[in-house]
Amino acid sequence: MEQYGGDHLDFQNGVFHGPVVGKHEEHHHSPAVPTALFGLPPRPPGFTGRDAEVDAVLAALDPGGGSGAGVVLSAGMGGVGKTALAVAAGHAALARGRFAGALFVDLLGYSTPVPPETALGSMLRALGVPAERLPAETRDLAVLYRSMLHRRAAEHGGPILVVADNASSVDQVEPLLPGDDRGRLLITSRDVLHPLPARRLELFVLSPASSVALLVAQLRVNDPADPRTGADPAALTRVAELCAGLPLAVRGAASARGRGSARRKRPGDPGRKSSTLVDRRSVVNYG
Ligand SMILES: Nc1ncnc2c1ncn2[C@@H]1O[C@H](COP(=O)(O)OP(=O)(O)O)[C@@H](O)[C@H]1O
Ligand SMILES: [Mg+2]
Repeated sequence: MEQYGGDHLDFQNGVFHGPVVGKHEEHHHSPAVPTALFGLPPRPPGFTGRDAEVDAVLAALDPGGGSGAGVVLSAGMGGVGKTALAVAAGHAALARGRFAGALFVDLLGYSTPVPPETALGSMLRALGVPAERLPAETRDLAVLYRSMLHRRAAEHGGPILVVADNASSVDQVEPLLPGDDRGRLLITSRDVLHPLPARRLELFVLSPASSVALLVAQLRVNDPADPRTGADPAALTRVAELCAGLPLAVRGAASARGRGSARRKRPGDPGRKSSTLVDRRSVVNYG
């Protein structure tokens, strides 16, 4: 028996019954899997107006509200501003401390619909589950997803908001429903997705005044010193009218004006055809 006299830290002060020739250690750590609990895209640049709509979404999302399904569906036509509203409302809800995090998934329902198992897989990875631990069955993925949402909520001291953009069918979103009372799922869709249990908020085109405000904001995003933002109200109103209250068209017009091409708009442009829509007021409906 001898006392170890070397300078290897692990062996110091040890008593060894025989000559020491080496020491073998094995460490079995799972690699740390990062969580990604702040997955909302950035707030759209120059986000303008929609105050009542943002408030309606916030009220429907309120985890303290305890009213119904925990699912909010923002429905409206393409280009009307559903994604922008969902992202802006998501950021506002986070800023108010109502959620400990937010996951975002684009279900691509109107191009190449993402199947639920793919959406669940990407959200589970964001929740910190390693890819190789994902179960094979959609049912099991959904169970793990609800459990992980619950666990992260407990760890981080607040529910996690899930935003599912561009859902085109109930099948795409049903497996994404949160399991507990405080979890919230915010869906955008061009359809009403019956019979999904959800608080339905329909998003309409902008009023003419809101369209002008959006146009000015977008011109400022492109060039804060753009002289046209304050100069010619009649021209701004006319361009806004041609956009038929669609934010997508207004944004396009703002960029086109920036390149000096707005005056080339001709009769027969899609914006002009649907310009009768311009009188529809921007309102929020409950269903
Ligand atoms: N309130 C708004 N303020 C600023 N930009 C907006 C607003 N609403 C929509 N946009 C912009 O208009 C375009 C179309 O809106 P989007 O949210 O993508 O429409 P949808 O999701 O309904 O198809 C996007 O570029 C978006 O950023
Ligand atoms: Mg969208």
